[in-house]
Amino acid sequence: MRMYDIIKKKRDGGELTDEEIRFFVGGYVDGSIPDYQVSALLMAIYFVGMSERETATLTFAVRDSGATLQGLDVGGFRADKHSTGGVGDKTSLAVMPIVAACGVKVAKMSGRGLGHTGGTVDKLEAIEGFDTALSAEKFADVVKKVGVAIVGQSATLAPADKLLYALRDVTATVDSIPLIASSIMGKKLAACDDCIVLDVKCGSGAFMKTIEDAKRLATAMVDIGKRAGKRISALITDMDIPLGATIGNSLEVVEAIDVLRGKAPKDLTELCIALSAEILWLCGLGNRTECEEMAKQALICGRALDTLAAMVEAQGGNKKWIYDTSFFPRARFTKEVIAPKSGFISSVNAEEYGGVSLLLGAGRSKVGESIDCAAGIVLYKKTGDYVNQGEVIAVLHSSRDCFDAAESKLLAATVIGDKPTKRPLVLDRVE
Ligand code: URA
Repeated sequence: MRMYDIIKKKRDGGELTDEEIRFFVGGYVDGSIPDYQVSALLMAIYFVGMSERETATLTFAVRDSGATLQGLDVGGFRADKHSTGGVGDKTSLAVMPIVAACGVKVAKMSGRGLGHTGGTVDKLEAIEGFDTALSAEKFADVVKKVGVAIVGQSATLAPADKLLYALRDVTATVDSIPLIASSIMGKKLAACDDCIVLDVKCGSGAFMKTIEDAKRLATAMVDIGKRAGKRISALITDMDIPLGATIGNSLEVVEAIDVLRGKAPKDLTELCIALSAEILWLCGLGNRTECEEMAKQALICGRALDTLAAMVEAQGGNKKWIYDTSFFPRARFTKEVIAPKSGFISSVNAEEYGGVSLLLGAGRSKVGESIDCAAGIVLYKKTGDYVNQGEVIAVLHSSRDCFDAAESKLLAATVIGDKPTKRPLVLDRVE
């Protein structure tokens, strides 16, 4: 088999065989196929696409390229939730303790921030002492005892994705539905959970900007999960507006704790309950209404908050911070952003808001850069709200002197008009 022939076949609109797909993934991981040939194939896939079968085979090849968590014994049915990435998306920090408090085991591997989007691992590391690099034994032990553990992505899992993603990042081939689906699902399948709920974000702050693309991506990922014998479904949710009222690591952890204390903004709490109920339903714990009620009860009685505190303690963190969030570090400086005129906030560019938070120090512009966990934005007004000229729209938090640029960027990304426009939070569901 020759890589040249595989590139040519895909370039000319052909459908690759399972052997051809496994040949190129295997050859790229073992170094026998060079970057320039894989780049050419990725570009051909970007333009020609892949059939459902090809996408599934590529995913399975990514899954099989390294170790899996098949043997991880956590003493029960394992569930996971995956977000395709957004701005202010701290749902994992609340949803995972909620479902664990309802009896589902969660052994979660999460990522760091990517571009303008945040990552759960960076957020958890805002908690003093929290260890996101547990050994496999300790990881399983915490899940068995507490019901939930969250760690960083293991380098031995799906190494093909690490290589392919890095190449896509520099060859303008990231935003291809079969490539995104196989990248996300390859890692998810290597984690070997029994049940997976996908939160496919759609809008200005997401990789998928339109509902049609979000639905295509959700359908492709659900199809792959089904072929692998998983219980899987996807919610397509709005990411035209940052989720909740905070963007930035410590600020978001505190807001997720607020969800578990019943004090968080309505949109964030509503999505956390919807995602938790979806997981409980997929796990067979009841019908939809019963599962929603179960998730709400776990919040109301405080069990979900205690589960988060127990997880933090078991992973080396200071659990006092969960019950008293005044311990979280604060940025040295803050600056209010003031509405330049009166009217309804008719739209915001959520990706640009993510960019403002990067400017303030909450994210990385290069791999490996350190982040300021206290930096970020607190939103006082969001899309659909009325503002009076001179009112505070947002407060910027940072330890850097970068407020002028951050303020201009935030105001440029905020449209104040005559009409309130807002769409529902859960836009669709793919089962
Ligand atoms: N997240 C991933 O893990 N992979 C992609 O391709 C895009 C987002």
